[in-house]
Amino acid sequence: MDGIYTAAQAERGKGLFTSLCERCHSVQEFSGRSFDAIWAGTTAATLYARIATTMPLDQPGSLAIPQVTALMAHIFNENKMPAGENPLEGNMDWLATISMARPTE
Ligand code: HEC
Repeated sequence: MDGIYTAAQAERGKGLFTSLCERCHSVQEFSGRSFDAIWAGTTAATLYARIATTMPLDQPGSLAIPQVTALMAHIFNENKMPAGENPLEGNMDWLATISMARPTE
């Protein structure tokens, strides 16, 4: 999980989350223990697919790939996973190799 997104990407995702997701969600639903309960141990591809194909609930499939990856970067950042040099990309084969975990507190 180290360095798989950039800080700039997370910043963009934060803005997208506010405009597209916050009327139904708070980011806390996707961070901390809630993250552990639902997403820990699953692959980044699962999270990608969930967001890309089912969200926003009233407009599923409307997000562009860079929007989905930015939203994921925001979620990773909220979970204190370290940012790095290379942006998160919407490559499902690669995302499927990443098992998601939060750093231990
Ligand atoms: C109109 C309300 C609405 C909007 C807008 C919306 N969601 Fe959701 N979202 C829901 C509901 C309701 C659920 C749970 C029901 C379901 O499983 O479909 C959900 C479930 C999810 C889940 C799965 C959570 C879990 O506990 O398994 C994720 C991840 C998610 N949303 C991300 C997003 C993101 C990212 C956005 C912004 C692009 C977004 N949602 C926008 C209503 C919304």
